[in-house]
Amino acid sequence: MNERSAAEAASDILRLELGERSYDIVVGRGLIDCAGESIAPRLGGRRLLVVSDKTVAGFHGARLEGALSQAGIEHHMLVIPPGEDSKSFRGLEDLLCRLLDLNCDRTVTLAAFGGGVVGDLTGFAASILLRGVDFIQIPTTLLAQVDSSVGGKTGINTRHGKNLIGSFHQPRLVLVDTDVTDSLPERERRAGYAEIVKYGLIDDAAFFEWLEQKGGALIAGDAAARRQAVVTSCRAKARIVGADERERGARALLNLGHTFAHALEAENAYGPELLHGEAVAVGLVLAFTLSARLGLSPPDEAARIARHLTGVGLPASIADLRFRSWSAESLMNHLAFDKKAREGKLRLVLARGIGKAFIAEDVPPAEITATLETAIAEGGAEAAEAAR
Ligand SMILES: NC(=O)c1ccc[n+]([C@@H]2O[C@H](COP(=O)([O-])OP(=O)(O)OC[C@H]3O[C@@H](n4cnc5c(N)ncnc54)[C@H](O)[C@@H]3O)[C@@H](O)[C@H]2O)c1
Ligand SMILES: [Zn+2]
Repeated sequence: MNERSAAEAASDILRLELGERSYDIVVGRGLIDCAGESIAPRLGGRRLLVVSDKTVAGFHGARLEGALSQAGIEHHMLVIPPGEDSKSFRGLEDLLCRLLDLNCDRTVTLAAFGGGVVGDLTGFAASILLRGVDFIQIPTTLLAQVDSSVGGKTGINTRHGKNLIGSFHQPRLVLVDTDVTDSLPERERRAGYAEIVKYGLIDDAAFFEWLEQKGGALIAGDAAARRQAVVTSCRAKARIVGADERERGARALLNLGHTFAHALEAENAYGPELLHGEAVAVGLVLAFTLSARLGLSPPDEAARIARHLTGVGLPASIADLRFRSWSAESLMNHLAFDKKAREGKLRLVLARGIGKAFIAEDVPPAEITATLETAIAEGGAEAAEAAR
């Protein structure tokens, strides 16, 4: 074991156990300023090629580069345009060619310094550059810190949909500085928070209860609460991925609320009016409303979740998404084409209550349609309240 830096000694070090692909997830405050000390002992080769987007590089790039220099790590920063468009064949080609321009060999390590876009693109590039090189994740959005940077799913979007081209390629290290999200717009922070709520709803009712107390402060800037929530979320994700890396079973639980969310996002053509996390917030309530409708979950739980999400400023029902009109029929069409659909029967993550999510294989489409229709017709908290 290497000597630990002072900041790392004050951090939580979680381990994702995957045999020879196991890695540490280091979560703490101020870690960017001593990133080199965490990275150097875990670096296979000599060179680190950092990929970031323009916004993140503008806010935090100099600090990261300073920390790498201080630790004597030879590095180079490649900046890509911010936004989902970079996660494309064109963006991938551009990045790979720029990496090759730097004469890299197979001992090079890539670092993804940014949100989920930078992480997914850089991870995928690492998995195919010279038939595969190492990479590390330094996530800078709340969503990336609690979700996309852990677990090794990488990829790009095509005209057929999001994340349909990609690979499983695990990072060698995930370095999470929870202070770096201070510069994130509050709307993005709130959206990332929906993924944190998801972990409570999947299998940790006590965590959800804690979030009910701390959620608002956490989004507003309570650094201690934010750090604790990120640690709990990463621990949950690491445990689930460690048990099922390739999503043959339990990893699908992480899709709680997501089948609905993807339908809403697709129907809105991935427009900026609806962030992924906002769609997830609505999707979580829909999953619990449907579960109640099927007699699986106590009816007041959906209302409780909706109250919490509304309380922190997230949408909790389709009716809260007032920027366009919605139709249950077209949402159903998206659901049917969702990757999780199997042989005409819809596979969904449902729940027997908060903290008791499970994978349901044969959900009757008529019940889903009815749930969507109600949610479109009625307001968020009111709709769930009406289900009581
Ligand atoms: N691989 C996975 O398991 C997984 C899981 C969930 C989501 N995803 C993917 O993640 C992507 C979404 O990620 P995201 O929400 O992080 O979006 P993002 O990467 O587009 O970042 C959102 C915005 O915040 C800016 N930003 C990032 N960090 C900042 C900071 N610290 N301060 C100020 N601005 C900052 C970015 O420049 C961008 O404009 C999607 O493409 C999604 O498919 C992947
Ligand atoms: Zn998500």
